[in-house]
Amino acid sequence: MALLDVHDLTVAFPSVTAVAGLSFSVHESETLALVGESGSGKSLTALALMGLVPRPGRVSGAVHFGGQDLLALPEARMRQLRGRDIAMIFQEPMTSLNPVLTIGRQIAETLRLHEGLSARAARLRAIELLDLVRIADPGRQVDSHAHRLSGGMRQRVMIAMAIACNPRVLIADEPTTALDVTIQAQVLDLLDRLRRDLGMALILITHDLGVVGQWADRVVVMYAGRKVEEADPIGLLRRPLHPYSRGLLGASPRLQARAHYRLGRLAEIPGSMASALGQAGCPFAPRCDVRQDKCDSVAPALREMGEARLVACPVAA
Ligand SMILES: Nc1ncnc2c1ncn2[C@@H]1O[C@H](COP(=O)(O)OP(=O)(O)O)[C@@H](O)[C@H]1O
Ligand SMILES: [Mg+2]
Repeated sequence: MALLDVHDLTVAFPSVTAVAGLSFSVHESETLALVGESGSGKSLTALALMGLVPRPGRVSGAVHFGGQDLLALPEARMRQLRGRDIAMIFQEPMTSLNPVLTIGRQIAETLRLHEGLSARAARLRAIELLDLVRIADPGRQVDSHAHRLSGGMRQRVMIAMAIACNPRVLIADEPTTALDVTIQAQVLDLLDRLRRDLGMALILITHDLGVVGQWADRVVVMYAGRKVEEADPIGLLRRPLHPYSRGLLGASPRLQARAHYRLGRLAEIPGSMASALGQAGCPFAPRCDVRQDKCDSVAPALREMGEARLVACPVAA
């Protein structure tokens, strides 16, 4: 039984269908990576799970969690769940932290809201949480303001806030994009350790296929709001089946830095995702190097290709 089961999720704006019929599931304590270029619908997928899609976005489909469909819950019920059972680290750490409050106060706010802790107990727990995310001297840092911290430290504070209530599912939206490469690895290691220690499931959102080999149990590759491939990370990195996955692999600086993945120079996928707009067939067809005539008219269905592997491409073999 999956912990979280997303079925046919669609997020539509008047101008664009940002997520189109996306299905995936997340099991207890596993890390599922959602990978795709900027604009592929990763953040909106996350926001849909949290019940936070901005107007005028319309959400349909189902998100089963704990015997209920989150998309059908009244907002009051969703507000109780959000941050407590499902928590999220947002893509913009700088804008998500309040510059006028100390980090201790911000962490404490979540604890007082969801756990009803007293101010004193919440402060003690905030110090504990800062220690858990490996912030040195947490008893002092609890009283500092976010703008005094480095990018890596701020991201740790964001993680502390997100795990404050021991969520079952943690969504991390590009948690390391703004950070230096060495700090990136530290933050991903931290998330991985917390996932194991706290028994959370982690949905790791990234545009870099290079992080999935080390930190994910399963990968969903997204393009223009659709799932184009689902695979185990090792299988995907050894032999990406969808032409878009192949392109992402070639464009990953992290993988290209490793000798056995050096496929030549860092290759960009030609064209842009804007070409998917209004495309009747495969959204990737306009950029695809193995495109066939039918790809322009027939939207490819996901096909099973071996164990736990799905590919939406009629050409992939
Ligand atoms: N508030 C919004 N209104 C209209 N379109 C939006 C809005 N937010 C995102 N989009 C569009 O939805 C698509 C997916 O966005 P997003 O989920 O943020 O992608 P990703 O996180 O993969 O970069 C993009 O084409 C984006 O322009
Ligand atoms: Mg995003």
